[in-house]
Amino acid sequence: MKTNAFYGRDWIDAELDYSREEWLTLIDVALELKRRYALNEDMTHLLRGKTLFSMFFNQSLRTRSTFAVGIQQLGGNYLELEPGKTYTPARKGFDIPYKTERIKDVAEMLDRVGEAIAIRMYGPPAGWNYGFANATMKEFAEYAGIPILNMECDKYHPCQALADMLTVKEKFGGFKGLNLTMSFAYSGSIEKPRAVPQSVILAATLMGMNVTLSHPEGYDLDPEVIKQCEKNANDQKGSFRVINDFDEGFKGAHVVYPKAWGAHTCFNYFDPETGKKIKDQDHEEATRVNELAKGWMTTEQQMSLVDQHGIYMHCLPADRGQEVTDEVIDGPRSVVIDEAENRLHAQKAIMALTMGGRL
Ligand code: CP
Repeated sequence: MKTNAFYGRDWIDAELDYSREEWLTLIDVALELKRRYALNEDMTHLLRGKTLFSMFFNQSLRTRSTFAVGIQQLGGNYLELEPGKTYTPARKGFDIPYKTERIKDVAEMLDRVGEAIAIRMYGPPAGWNYGFANATMKEFAEYAGIPILNMECDKYHPCQALADMLTVKEKFGGFKGLNLTMSFAYSGSIEKPRAVPQSVILAATLMGMNVTLSHPEGYDLDPEVIKQCEKNANDQKGSFRVINDFDEGFKGAHVVYPKAWGAHTCFNYFDPETGKKIKDQDHEEATRVNELAKGWMTTEQQMSLVDQHGIYMHCLPADRGQEVTDEVIDGPRSVVIDEAENRLHAQKAIMALTMGGRL
């Protein structure tokens, strides 16, 4: 079988491991698969007989439904391995007798019978230990020769970012010269992952957009991600800035993406080399900064500041009445359902290229 440059590759830290050209290819393929879907064309030859295993350690509507439907539209099989119904896969050093199974054994076994393993893990199943879920996926990748697909970890949500870039391309035709603001938005829940904002700013700077990250004090993202965004902006001749002013982020933006994420203090931090704990969660401080951020709700007043063609994006689920008003998320500038649909086409592109041959 002829293959392509994507075949067999993991999709874990995709914003770092795939080049700009590869992201553009994935967007093109997703658009082609979306066109075929609209024309009701048969796509079942693309992954006929191939099997995707999924493991959800967290809840999900969009990711679960679009992966399950997507693989079947490409002719493949889908099997959800529910933690609790299978032995829970555990990293070396985290085994519990007859409850968990070492990731090495799980990964090597599934490699023999399927073509990819998709995993979602962040937050409570990873003890809010920042980076633990990402490392779990990499432990799978170490032992499975088949692709490991990140369905959201504690660092990245590359499937969401690809669907979002696809949505931007559809709405504006391209990326260069567009202003995108990823803004914090208030939520009553203090514990939320940072994967979406981190992936979106990485992908948008890779595409060469002018990116603003806007958040209140205490909601800083991973410094390594910020450094990479600065590098992307420099390499792609776009721009990147960080501000702490809610309204300022909306001014002149073509794309606004106001969404909640956890304060810096809602995570535990470890030394990546030694595994030694550097800093514990501080719920008191996370609650304090969250109270101060109550004004960060997107209303018509903020939307009046965006470019005349500006759009409102959100990955969903949204906390209505906290992150955003009904008027905005249900309003004419909102593209949230387009983004959700595009998860299907984006993930089909990822699967078609990493699990299959040429289109
Ligand atoms: N945006 C997103 O990943 O949605 P789910 O949590 O429903 O999968």
